[in-house]
Amino acid sequence: MTLEAKSYLRSLERSQRSRTRTDRPSVFSMYDREWDLLPEVFAPIYSPSTQIAMGFLGLAEGSDAPRWGSLLEMGSGSGLISVSAALAGCAHVVALDINPDAARNTAMNASRHGVADRVDARCSDLFEGLAEGERFDLVFWSSNYVLAPPGFEYANMHDRAYVDAGYHAHRRFLEEAPKWLTPDGVALIHFSTRGDLVALLRGAGDGDRSLRLLADRTVREGELDIEHMLLEVTVSTPRRRDLAFAGSDAAAHA
Ligand SMILES: C[S@@+](CC[C@H](N)C(=O)[O-])C[C@H]1O[C@@H](n2cnc3c(N)ncnc32)[C@H](O)[C@@H]1O
Repeated sequence: MTLEAKSYLRSLERSQRSRTRTDRPSVFSMYDREWDLLPEVFAPIYSPSTQIAMGFLGLAEGSDAPRWGSLLEMGSGSGLISVSAALAGCAHVVALDINPDAARNTAMNASRHGVADRVDARCSDLFEGLAEGERFDLVFWSSNYVLAPPGFEYANMHDRAYVDAGYHAHRRFLEEAPKWLTPDGVALIHFSTRGDLVALLRGAGDGDRSLRLLADRTVREGELDIEHMLLEVTVSTPRRRDLAFAGSDAAAHA
């Protein structure tokens, strides 16, 4: 993978283009529905990642209904994934986003599509907005997987959809996500080769977290082939601190 793909500066340029383009709509169409889009919120129409995440979760057209009764979506953005999950039969969705406009945007789209009673959108830095006893069958984050330097300071909320300074948020997600699961629940993260998997694994390995590859899909993005991955966050036993990848012989040590 080229440095170009992983460059946080290039990623911030993509963020800036998406945020400021003059043809950026306030409503867009996707999956035969109209969706509100607020100005500072991640736009699913300018990146393939939302649709790839929808496919990973079995929410794209022609998929079977999801098996989970409750979903915690981290970083819900416009709310397309959370609202689609509710429309597909998920009875209880909590949608969190650090960007207050994203939380508002998710609530708008839940109302627009008649699932406001099932989608609870909250502004929250990772899990801070949850009450102690809340538990979910699925915790999912289509993350801001591009690594920015640890001291990077965000110029605006939109950039938080693209880069994570020092993987501080990713480390906290890996650490905390399993704690919010029901006994059979799963914690998943949508990552890509624009991110730094070695740095992510190092974060996972600092504690007792492992990552397991459940699915991947390579898409052409401009001049580059980008591999998108659906990773399961698991809690390792003390004897299994290695990072196991299902379907692969390779085991990487953190
Ligand atoms: C790649 S966008 C995905 C948006 C939406 N789920 C979609 O697929 O269209 C990542 C989202 O994570 C949110 N985010 C970033 N850091 C976060 C944090 N610390 N806590 C909660 N949300 C965060 C961003 O604001 C952004 O909405």
